[in-house]
Amino acid sequence: MAKITQDQAHFLLLKINSLMGLIPIGVFLAFHLGINALRTVGPLQYQLSIDLINNLPFLFGIEIAFIYAPLLFHSMMGFYIYFSGKRNVGHYGYPRNWRYTLQRITGLIVFAFLIYHLGTTVAPKIFYGKHQFLAAPFLMDIMNAEFQTWSGRIIYLIGISSATFHFANGLWGFCVSWGIIIGQNAQRNASIVFAMVGLVLTFLGFATVLEFSLNPIPVTPTVGE
Ligand code: HEM
Repeated sequence: MAKITQDQAHFLLLKINSLMGLIPIGVFLAFHLGINALRTVGPLQYQLSIDLINNLPFLFGIEIAFIYAPLLFHSMMGFYIYFSGKRNVGHYGYPRNWRYTLQRITGLIVFAFLIYHLGTTVAPKIFYGKHQFLAAPFLMDIMNAEFQTWSGRIIYLIGISSATFHFANGLWGFCVSWGIIIGQNAQRNASIVFAMVGLVLTFLGFATVLEFSLNPIPVTPTVGE
């Protein structure tokens, strides 16, 4: 059997990394911001959506396989690309180069944001043993308190916009690198479509922050302890 060369292994890792940015990470982000935006419909709707997720069978395994392991791989590859890549904005002022630089900067911001975000939501949930129907009121109390401070709001606005830019621009990079959009016109049109996708997701995230900030409504478990 032919052995794969170091260059081929490198190429394969970059391709897998680009695919993972879309599936499952990008899909998770779109789903996550969409579900959270249910908070703008009402606290009960949001509570039921958290109840549904927190009562899924094999939740821990699903989260490790489809969220945490891909996120860890994507982040490690991101650091590798960041520290091994050359910056070329100084040489060419093309928007494409700026987007590439912004892609790397927002990647770093999202990584820092995720440490904060998971450290203030998932970590305390596990630490205090708030599982199943106890999770929703516990997490909503945390979110209500988070968005009563300007620092909390600003951290989330920066985290959300960095994540949506990183995803939308990454979607374009994925389509180019996988040979899905080839011609110049197709690439320009795709930029517009993916920018719209990013704007819609940003709108959902910002609307959620606004709703939590204006209406911090506490809830009790939907099913008795
Ligand atoms: C309005 C904005 C957001 C709100 C209100 C929010 C809320 C939450 C909550 C309450 C949890 C805990 C869920 C649970 O343990 O049941 C969570 C988990 C998580 N969030 Fe967010 N989030 C927001 C934005 C983001 C963004 C922008 C990202 C990506 C950069 C993100 C990534 C994650 C990840 C990876 C988890 C862990 C997976 C999970 O346990 O479901 N979140 N978020």
